[in-house]
Amino acid sequence: MYPADTLFRAVTWRASGGAVVSGPFRGLELAPHPFLPHLLGSYERELHPTVDALCARQWRRIVNVGGGNGFYIVGFGRRVPAAELVVFELTAEARAVIAATVERNGLTARTRILGAAEPGNLDAACAGAGPTLVVMDVEGAELELTDPAQVPSLRATTMLIETHDVLRAGCRDAIVARYGDSHTITTIVPRPRTLADFPASLAPLLPRVMPARCVESVQEWRGGPQEWLLLGPKKAEG
Ligand SMILES: C[S@@+](CC[C@H](N)C(=O)[O-])C[C@H]1O[C@@H](n2cnc3c(N)ncnc32)[C@H](O)[C@@H]1O
Repeated sequence: MYPADTLFRAVTWRASGGAVVSGPFRGLELAPHPFLPHLLGSYERELHPTVDALCARQWRRIVNVGGGNGFYIVGFGRRVPAAELVVFELTAEARAVIAATVERNGLTARTRILGAAEPGNLDAACAGAGPTLVVMDVEGAELELTDPAQVPSLRATTMLIETHDVLRAGCRDAIVARYGDSHTITTIVPRPRTLADFPASLAPLLPRVMPARCVESVQEWRGGPQEWLLLGPKKAEG
């Protein structure tokens, strides 16, 4: 890493106190060396209104499939204090970061951290819990994990899914076709990041002194076209 990058990271980490600076998960305490868009709170900004609206609902269980570093399960968990939390994450390394982040934010008692999601264990995690929210980002595995024949509980579940047609051609349309009858579906599309996405309140001088670095810090470096689908069941959830 270049010295200017190291300095920029050190300044933002120190100024933030290690907690998410803006957005719906503001105040979430992250493990050291976070992805900068997570720390700055600009991450997946397109979803912020949706996340805020979902956080206002009374979920009994929130299931995060593809937990990464725990940003979503901990973010939702802090905002929905009555919900049980279940997070599936494939890699042991990421599960360790999730566990540390869960602990830092005082959520250990109501969080289950599990390994790879498969149709069977995902169905078990979602079935019979009452109103359940699924947040899924699994690099193409959403094609298998949203098959209602294999995961029947999803027919009555609210889902926020990142789709990855770049990895699995046609997966977005397949999900829409599967749930078009049972769910109301909203598509959310990404937009480019600019200097306006940097939370200037963190360090007001930074966008003036290091504008290029600030723009770079909010980039999410996506591998290709992707979208999000919000699927809400048409029948009331039990
Ligand atoms: C792009 S990351 C998710 C990032 C997350 N949205 C965030 O905010 O940090 C995708 C994650 O899904 C995990 N993953 C992929 N397939 C999985 C599966 N079948 N079950 C659980 N996790 C899976 C990967 O290990 C990776 O950590």
